[in-house]
Amino acid sequence: MTDRQKRLVVVSNRVGPLSDEGKAGGLAVGLADALRRRGGLWFGWSGEVSTQGTFSELKTEIVGSTAMVTIDLNEEELQGFYFGYANKSLWPLLHYRLDIAQFDRQSDRIYRSVNQRFAARLSPQIDGNDIVWVHDYHFFYLGSELRQCGFGGRLGFFLHIPFCPPEILTALPSSHDLVRAMLAYDVIGFQTEVDRRNFVAFCVQELGGEDFGDGRIRVRGRTVRVSAFPIGIDAEGFADFALTPEAVEHEDMVRDIAHGRHQIVGVDRLDYSKGIIERLRGFEQLLEDYPENRGASQFLQVAPLSRSELDAYAELRNEVEQLAGNINGRFATLDWTPVQIMTRGFTRRALAGIYRAARVCMVTPLRDGMNLVAKEYIAAQDVRDPGVLVLSRFAGAREELAEALIVNPYSSEDVARAMQRALTMSLAERLERHAALRKTVFGNTAAHWCAAFLNALEDEAPGASSEGDPVIAP
Ligand code: G6P
Repeated sequence: MTDRQKRLVVVSNRVGPLSDEGKAGGLAVGLADALRRRGGLWFGWSGEVSTQGTFSELKTEIVGSTAMVTIDLNEEELQGFYFGYANKSLWPLLHYRLDIAQFDRQSDRIYRSVNQRFAARLSPQIDGNDIVWVHDYHFFYLGSELRQCGFGGRLGFFLHIPFCPPEILTALPSSHDLVRAMLAYDVIGFQTEVDRRNFVAFCVQELGGEDFGDGRIRVRGRTVRVSAFPIGIDAEGFADFALTPEAVEHEDMVRDIAHGRHQIVGVDRLDYSKGIIERLRGFEQLLEDYPENRGASQFLQVAPLSRSELDAYAELRNEVEQLAGNINGRFATLDWTPVQIMTRGFTRRALAGIYRAARVCMVTPLRDGMNLVAKEYIAAQDVRDPGVLVLSRFAGAREELAEALIVNPYSSEDVARAMQRALTMSLAERLERHAALRKTVFGNTAAHWCAAFLNALEDEAPGASSEGDPVIAP
């Protein structure tokens, strides 16, 4: 059997949807595209909590040539693995937020045991002819656990979020165990060169590893390929979305509420990494520094609620609503409300229409793995009259999308200046910037990302790409 015929087995915490209809986020969109093309098995959490948890029966849904197989978590696993270690420890830490990261050994223990349980449940369903691709910060230990279950095939890992520098990661009490466990994968992929460099630096400085400088590192006799594979979108598909009746309806609605004013939009999960507070301050600064925008521009923030059970997210929601209220209280007139916040989600078709109606899109995270909103905004634009992307220097997308207006999201003056520049930009400059950005977005799609990663994985000898022990048990 050739590698091309090998079955693709994808593991991620969230599974599906495979169709493009839903409200899927970045990870699901990229993977759904890969699985629609190639078929295979997609394994992860059902999103449900039951008393049996990871011992629950497998739930299987077949869509085309893909089987989506999921198991539950129990309440303790939900709290320790998902809310606890994944989202109170790893998420803030990997987004450089040591100030709010919380560590406790109970959730560390549960996280490892959930990784071990997922490996134990997946193991009987796969064999050495399969190619296994594990995704994101929920499953750092899964590869090592699969090896311990005897899996000898090719094993890859892709991190969708940033990888922080070793000076930050070492605050995690089990950082050495975690990175050593990652070395059980044959290929480790990151979104950007910065993330790759941070990981290699940890391996060299903390684990005494060696960087061969050719994309491979060796740590304690184990050689692993480490590369950046920037994720893309299905650009053609998203551009087509923007022309569907649902998109056009939303485009018209946004234009109607704008009453001929310039519409500025932001679309993000309500998450502290997205810089929503800083962006609102930037808009307030715009109204102060460039008063001609009062009554003439408005800002729509779409921010679907996320992980609301966690204090940091509930607090953020209050803060965002309060700040938006303050700005509106200060500047609104009888016929103009400067800021609109919506915590409901939209379908991807509706979003495409909203993007098309927006003269400016603000993608200004304080730290972000890639940020696919930036790419979707570009794909959705009318090529004859495109809007302007304002992009944080701390978004992974910044490495590719140099023709956006690049800002430091921490500086409200800088953000206001970029908004003003975007709002007053000539059609000629908008056309020129958009054409360059569009070329990039259409040139590195989700399909390219997937092919690049899988080619790299297929090039590696499985399991023992070195003289070392393929099983790195922390
Ligand atoms: C980010 C992560 C994904 C995660 C998504 C939504 O994009 O990279 O792994 O699924 O956020 O977060 P949630 O906690 O709802 O799965």
